[in-house]
Amino acid sequence: MLAGKKVVVVGGSSGIGLSTAELATREGAEVIIASRNADRLNAAASTLGAKAMPTDVTNDESVENLFRNCGPVDHVVVTAAQLRTGPFKTVAMEDVRATMEGKFWGAWRVARSAEIRPGGSLTLVTGYLSIRPRPNSAIISVANGALESLTRALALELAPVRCNAVSPGIIDTPIRAAMPEAARRDMLAKTAASLPVGRVGVGEDIARQILAFMTIGFATGSIVYLDGGGLVT
Ligand SMILES: NC(=O)c1ccc[n+]([C@@H]2O[C@H](COP(=O)([O-])OP(=O)(O)OC[C@H]3O[C@@H](n4cnc5c(N)ncnc54)[C@H](OP(=O)(O)O)[C@@H]3O)[C@@H](O)[C@H]2O)c1
Repeated sequence: MLAGKKVVVVGGSSGIGLSTAELATREGAEVIIASRNADRLNAAASTLGAKAMPTDVTNDESVENLFRNCGPVDHVVVTAAQLRTGPFKTVAMEDVRATMEGKFWGAWRVARSAEIRPGGSLTLVTGYLSIRPRPNSAIISVANGALESLTRALALELAPVRCNAVSPGIIDTPIRAAMPEAARRDMLAKTAASLPVGRVGVGEDIARQILAFMTIGFATGSIVYLDGGGLVT
């Protein structure tokens, strides 16, 4: 489905981004993955047969360099994020600013710098907290909500480039690597039991939606909530 297409996955060394890079490679695309940790990035790229370009989305120049080196591309996906949060009244301003800097401004920088061919696409990854908030994570709700507004705005302003977003529920990826293993497993098991589908998500569940956005030329300004039924339970 993607033969002859150039795809950039920013955040492609892990989790949802890595699954997206795998699927796009399987569908015949030339894939470039970008993230900060060069060792992890190079290891993922060599397994995939993709190109690695070390990039930090919190840095204007780093993102500009990435797309200067890529040249015109067909599809861009942003999964990069490192989230810092805590109780609203006490969480450090430095932490909430860092969350916005990576997740929201990172996507903004990518959208400004990428040269996407007409009819190509930009896909952002938001998250269920935008419409199903939880205590102690207001900044993540805000970042996700802002990205959803940005998606709709860019669908108009970047046309004929298309812009869409996928909002995942709980997906088992390395994003929770810092949690104690027993607590992580317990949280995932409880979530799985609470969902109509009886399981949490895997990276490929979201990657398949991202590939649908790349390949359905009628999709723009769309936000798909993909959460195993989390929003209806
Ligand atoms: N997993 C879930 O349950 C879930 C639920 C809802 C929403 N989401 C959203 O889905 C997206 C992907 O999450 P994931 O679970 O795939 O996370 P992940 O496995 O931790 O992957 C995050 C990727 O982003 C890269 N990254 C982080 N900060 C970066 C920066 N400043 N510049 C460039 N690259 C950066 C990481 O590599 P380096 O650290 O080496 O840079 C890594 O490749 C995130 O936006 C997350 O908020 C996830």
